[in-house]
Amino acid sequence: MKYFDSHCHLGDDAFKEDFDAVYQRALEKEVTRMLVLGWDLPSSRNAVALAKRYKNIYAAVGFHPENLDEVSDEALEQIKELAKEEKVVAIGEIGLDYHWFKDLEPRAKQREWFIKQIELANSLSLPISVHARDASGDTLQILTDHPAKYGAVLHCYSGSVETMKSLSKLGYYFGFDGPITYKNAVEPKECVKACPINRLLTETDSPYLSPVPLRGTRNEPGNIPLIVEKMAELKEINVEEMAEQLNRNFEELFHVKTL
Ligand code: NI
Repeated sequence: MKYFDSHCHLGDDAFKEDFDAVYQRALEKEVTRMLVLGWDLPSSRNAVALAKRYKNIYAAVGFHPENLDEVSDEALEQIKELAKEEKVVAIGEIGLDYHWFKDLEPRAKQREWFIKQIELANSLSLPISVHARDASGDTLQILTDHPAKYGAVLHCYSGSVETMKSLSKLGYYFGFDGPITYKNAVEPKECVKACPINRLLTETDSPYLSPVPLRGTRNEPGNIPLIVEKMAELKEINVEEMAEQLNRNFEELFHVKTL
């Protein structure tokens, strides 16, 4: 069985000491495609460098809503150049985070750069990877008014079932990770159950959100089988079928063949 991790931050300092061991463990677990996302310009450059160096790594480049201090039209021009590199398969991660930003001004800035980066993705025929936290209404509004023409995944989806239904009507995908294995996380499980099976993706969001029974430790792409198992259980199908469907979904959105 082959797996993928559609959202991980292998460029994070948490992996500095033992990157190769983490990468090898993923391959041993048959996690053969890892999409590494940047969150600003340096981390996007690093994601592209990792994709060049490692056969099973792909990259996404962009400005995360929590990291807009250095954003500018010039910086976005550089993201655009990076996005033209081979193995860059998405613009991300981009979106809205109202959890940490309560004031109107930073929220307006987030919306402005979210829209600009959707437009960039559209101009490059690339899908987007979306971070949305406590901002369901505006995320839905923006993705309705400014559709991601080449697709989108709502990464670590934490909205309601209702919003998910509206977004899935627009053809978007939903990424789920560690929280679907947490006992107290009711809504993510309900979302997996309600999500059309051809719109589901698995991810780790490494180094964060380790699944049970590894909760609280550093997460890594090799933990993906735990997420797939849980997803299969929630969808009431066998793990092989689940993995095959997920591979089709990943390939359809990011155009990356199964390795
Ligand atoms: Ni992330």
